[in-house]
Amino acid sequence: MTEPVLVETVDRIAWITLNRPDAMNAINTAMRAALPAAIRAADADPAVRVIVLRGAGERAFCAGADIKEFVEVPSPTDYRQQRIHESWIAAFDQARKPILASVHGVCLGGGTEIALACDIRIAAEDALFGLPETGLGIITGVGGSQRLPRTVGLGAALDMMLTGERIGAARAREIGLVTRVVPRAELHASTAALAAHLAARPPMAMQFAKEAVRSAMDLPLRDGMRLETDLITLLLNTEDRLEAARAFREKRPPDFTGR
Ligand code: COA
Repeated sequence: MTEPVLVETVDRIAWITLNRPDAMNAINTAMRAALPAAIRAADADPAVRVIVLRGAGERAFCAGADIKEFVEVPSPTDYRQQRIHESWIAAFDQARKPILASVHGVCLGGGTEIALACDIRIAAEDALFGLPETGLGIITGVGGSQRLPRTVGLGAALDMMLTGERIGAARAREIGLVTRVVPRAELHASTAALAAHLAARPPMAMQFAKEAVRSAMDLPLRDGMRLETDLITLLLNTEDRLEAARAFREKRPPDFTGR
């Protein structure tokens, strides 16, 4: 059986590929188990500094939950288990390293939710985002209703959630759903260049920057300011901070170790 998720680590970048191209990389039960495991493994791997998520095949990043698995109503036991267990998307929130979503083609439902759970979203010009769930008689299930308004604001989020309409890459950038749009043919190279750029930066500063900014969505300002002070105090005691200052003085590129 083909693996639902592929992982390849090259030059400190873990490339995680949603790998069901014949089903537009729809999220089935196997992928729902393999994806968080891949994120956790990459986050724990000292050889990895940046994680990239992408979709296999020409047509899609991810077409959302596998609708073919929707036909059966879950048994009360399965349903209870789902409510007890932490959602698989929590792996994204718990990851300390930066996660990039590299989106081409169809990115609907859970696909948009996965992209929203990543830290930076780069899209090809052919990318199509949308949350069609309400048309299926449900709503988003892995954070879309919470992350979308935090990312694009209440108005654009309600528009997308209630209408289920798809939006293209240009509109997605306009509302802040993605921050970078590139021609389809350049998506891989642009993603690789951005990932390499992030991987060359001081790993602890990257992780703490992510923690600080993400916390801004949850914390009152005073607590967020306190967290920032704590995090910068920790960073002031790192070797990488001294390496950055030395490299600047010596007019050479820095070599960060993550210590
Ligand atoms: N779940 C399961 N299979 C899916 C899927 C999904 N979410 N999205 C696409 N596929 C499968 C199709 O069933 C088809 O496989 P098949 O030929 O073996 O049946 C294959 O992917 C290609 O999709 P197809 O519909 O033939 O391509 P299209 O270009 O006509 O349409 C989409 C593409 C993505 C617009 C359409 O497939 C679609 O609307 N999918 C559902 C998206 C959605 O609502 N996701 C949210 C779920 S909560």
